Amino acid sequence: MGLVSSLSSTNIAVSLLLLVLVFLSVAVSAVDEVKNGRVERELLVQQQEGDRVSRLPGQPEVSFKQYAGYVTVDESHGRALFYWFLESTHRPHDKPLLLWLNGGPGCSSIGYGEAEELGPFFPSKAQPELTFNRHSWNLTNVDNVRLGKIKRTAANLLFLESPVGVGFSYTNTSTDISQLGDTMAAKDAHTFLINWFRRFPQLRSRDLYIAGESYAGHYVPQLAEAVFDGNKNVSKDDQINFKGFIIGNALMDDGTDQKGMVEYAWDHAVISDQVYDKVKHACDFADEEEFTSAAACKEALKGYFDVYYLIDMYSLFAPACFNDSTFITRRRQRPLIRGQLAPRFFSKFVSPPNFLCAASRRGYIASLNSENCVNLHINFVTNFEK
Ligand SMILES: *[C@@H]1O[C@H](CO)[C@@H](O)[C@H](O)[C@H]1NC(C)=O
Ligand SMILES: *[C@@H]1O[C@H](CO)[C@@H](O)[C@H](O)[C@H]1NC(C)=O
Ligand SMILES: *[C@@H]1O[C@H](CO)[C@@H](O)[C@H](O)[C@H]1NC(C)=O
Ligand SMILES: *[C@@H]1O[C@H](CO)[C@@H](O)[C@H](O)[C@H]1NC(C)=O
Repeated sequence: MGLVSSLSSTNIAVSLLLLVLVFLSVAVSAVDEVKNGRVERELLVQQQEGDRVSRLPGQPEVSFKQYAGYVTVDESHGRALFYWFLESTHRPHDKPLLLWLNGGPGCSSIGYGEAEELGPFFPSKAQPELTFNRHSWNLTNVDNVRLGKIKRTAANLLFLESPVGVGFSYTNTSTDISQLGDTMAAKDAHTFLINWFRRFPQLRSRDLYIAGESYAGHYVPQLAEAVFDGNKNVSKDDQINFKGFIIGNALMDDGTDQKGMVEYAWDHAVISDQVYDKVKHACDFADEEEFTSAAACKEALKGYFDVYYLIDMYSLFAPACFNDSTFITRRRQRPLIRGQLAPRFFSKFVSPPNFLCAASRRGYIASLNSENCVNLHINFVTNFEK
């Protein structure tokens, strides 16, 4: 009896001790979790603040926040993509997120999209050096104003330099450059998004739209597909709230593009019926080999290309600012640039602008000795899905 009772009291003591231990370890791990959570949050805040752009040189005062920096997309190769994120000016928490990609392939989304197209500022020769872009992302929709429905069509904008080798994005493995193509561009941009949302988890639940122009006619749908398929395959934490995509002035393939350009010039009375008919008969745009090499087609297209000396085909109703031959060549052929260069507004190597096109609607400074595009065409593998 004495033995039994002493055994059971030992048992009780052991059980109590175990209970206390279990309780302690639960308490300790809870404290650990809270601590780890706090450390993680602090790290995130630090990372986000590290990317915060307080102000650009010559920038007027603004109320919205901006962030820029690198996101690693391949650690072993040392590939990193550069982004610039601009919050919407009004109620950014209620606004969707728009990823913007310029084309080329090889053109900078910072140099074009952010600094010349839909970003908040335009460079100006006067003071301040940056002025507001009246056509920016926070513009009130004119139709809504007319209809008495004042609604700000704002979005949070995320500009991405893609793929590596373009603008500020880079790789530490030079052989990556020879592997460049649509597949790698889409894969890296998808990895970028996953890692960027890990850095900005507060934005993960926003509706995401993927948008771009020109060669982004390839980037956008192919990235959209990667995100859509990837969502079925990534962990719950890495799901992307992808809603849709938008492409402007899309390049699908060279034949369709060239045919469209000629038709556009014709139905805007930029070229004559004769020039148009000649091109139509001499060029088989469905056959890329044929239209790029056939002598009769080349000759006919010359009549079309000659208007480039007179008119900016990308902006028919604005004065042609550039009468410099390098500009004309650049527009006729695809951009051809040596080596890697920073986008022109941001290049350290930009000498004073050659001239300012005061007549330009946009009033931006054109510097002809630095470029927004690098020539990726030699190696770039394009996926056509026909
Ligand atoms: C690329 O190399 C530089 C120099 O070694 C290094 O500082 C940088 O972190 C590397 N980039 C990536 C994405 O690993
Ligand atoms: C757009 O943002 C700029 C800079 O904050 C501001 O001056 C301008 O009023 C905004 N435009 C609209 C329509 O909200
Ligand atoms: C799904 O994930 C696995 C492992 O990361 C990967 O090998 C596979 O290619 C992925 N599939 C798709 C459709 O992304
Ligand atoms: C345009 O070209 C003409 C002739 O080559 C030259 O005289 C003129 O200065 C140029 N204008 C500009 C703005 O560069």
